[in-house]
Amino acid sequence: YVIGVDLGTSAVKILLVDQQGNVAKTISKSYPLIHEKNGYSEQDPKHWVEQTAAGLKEMLSAFGENAEDIEGISFSGQMHGLVLLDSDNKVLRPAILWNDTRTTAQCQQIYDVVGQERLLEITKNPALEGFTLPKILWVQKNEPELFGKVKSFVLPKDYLRYKMTGKLEMEFSDAAGTLLLDVSSKQWSQEICDLLELDVSICPPLVDSHDEVGTVTKEFAEVSGLSPSTRVFAGGADNACGAIGAGILEEGKTFCSIGTSGVVLSYEARGDKDFDGKVHYFNHAAPGAFYTMGVTLAAGYSLSWFKDAFAPEASFDELLADIHSVPAGSNGLVFTPYVVGERTPHADAAIRGSFIGMDGSHRRKDFARAVLEGITFSLNESISIFRESGKTIDTIVSIGGGAQNEEWLQMQADIFDAKIIRLTSEQGPGMGAAMLAAFGCSWFQTLQECADAFLQEEQHYLPMEENVQTYRKLFPIYQEVYG
Ligand code: XUL
Repeated sequence: YVIGVDLGTSAVKILLVDQQGNVAKTISKSYPLIHEKNGYSEQDPKHWVEQTAAGLKEMLSAFGENAEDIEGISFSGQMHGLVLLDSDNKVLRPAILWNDTRTTAQCQQIYDVVGQERLLEITKNPALEGFTLPKILWVQKNEPELFGKVKSFVLPKDYLRYKMTGKLEMEFSDAAGTLLLDVSSKQWSQEICDLLELDVSICPPLVDSHDEVGTVTKEFAEVSGLSPSTRVFAGGADNACGAIGAGILEEGKTFCSIGTSGVVLSYEARGDKDFDGKVHYFNHAAPGAFYTMGVTLAAGYSLSWFKDAFAPEASFDELLADIHSVPAGSNGLVFTPYVVGERTPHADAAIRGSFIGMDGSHRRKDFARAVLEGITFSLNESISIFRESGKTIDTIVSIGGGAQNEEWLQMQADIFDAKIIRLTSEQGPGMGAAMLAAFGCSWFQTLQECADAFLQEEQHYLPMEENVQTYRKLFPIYQEVYG
């Protein structure tokens, strides 16, 4: 067996996977978010470690097999979260998470000092509130005394792995989301550190996602029930691991993930293309590869907002039960899903959502369909950017909550004008983490071989020409709403 640990924003999900790729057991343990002020989002790293250990213990005792049969363990983690450590590797303050938006002034500082063009050349990405470097600068400015004690920083799953192995490292796919990594050459940027008066030694040693970084310490073995002989592999950022778990392992492969936020992610063999910062461009967790990615901040969240506001008693199935009777285009209603701001393509934390085109004939089902269409249009903006750069996007693996509804899957095929694939019992980033462990343990020669063995297509959806034409006319109207 191998274990994939997916350290998410609201919970840790642990998967026990056998050599055929079957999930023998899953367990999930939640932990709280701390919102001390509007726009703040923090978590206590101690909770990640405690809940992971508790989850492992519960899983192993329910499983009833020998812990020695677990050959390897690896990780997927929420990206960008800042964990600051002192010289004894003790946590100095709560982690500041990816969805914390207090750092607008620090993003401006980065542009002023480093320059937008130079930042893009080195990191391939723009300065966004969610990324790690602005968070470091915020602590440097607002908590100078504490900042004086900082010896190093890590990201959430790297901290968890440190507590498991006693070894402090970061791997490339998560380091790419810090804005301190030279993404093409895979080195920490001395230049950015110097310009911002940061000591580059706060950046930990870098490893590859499939690298074996050690074994489980005696202390962690005791609290978790893991065996000290289990091999620990570095793991990757949640989006990179989601990509592995959806088989996005060669040029031409793309996934669309609709959870609270929405992501479209496409494989890149090269790290030196130019997307001008319009989409994120990060190192993959697959050896030597990269990916481009667009993010819709409020994807599933727009739908749950709509349900809470207008149909709190209904289940999601009830809410969406009659949208099939509404034609493509929602009888003229257009929704923009900017209810918590937007990332791709607008990178605007202040913009808010809208319904336009309402008339007296519209009913709840028209609004419900318009919400799904608006979310999907937003994701299509990222796909359009990929296509404009010359990428072929003709087949997309759909994962997450958005892959649970047949009508929405067909809508994705029609709006994206691509074949949509749904996988059999898709497991998200936790499976990607388990696959990194399986590959690390040499169960397979390549991650692709692992994907061939572990992942199966359940069903596919082809674009329907009439709907494609309707959406092709509507999409530019949707795009104008932002302006
Ligand atoms: C990616 C991002 C989110 C987090 C969620 O840039 O901010 O997808 O990784 O965990």
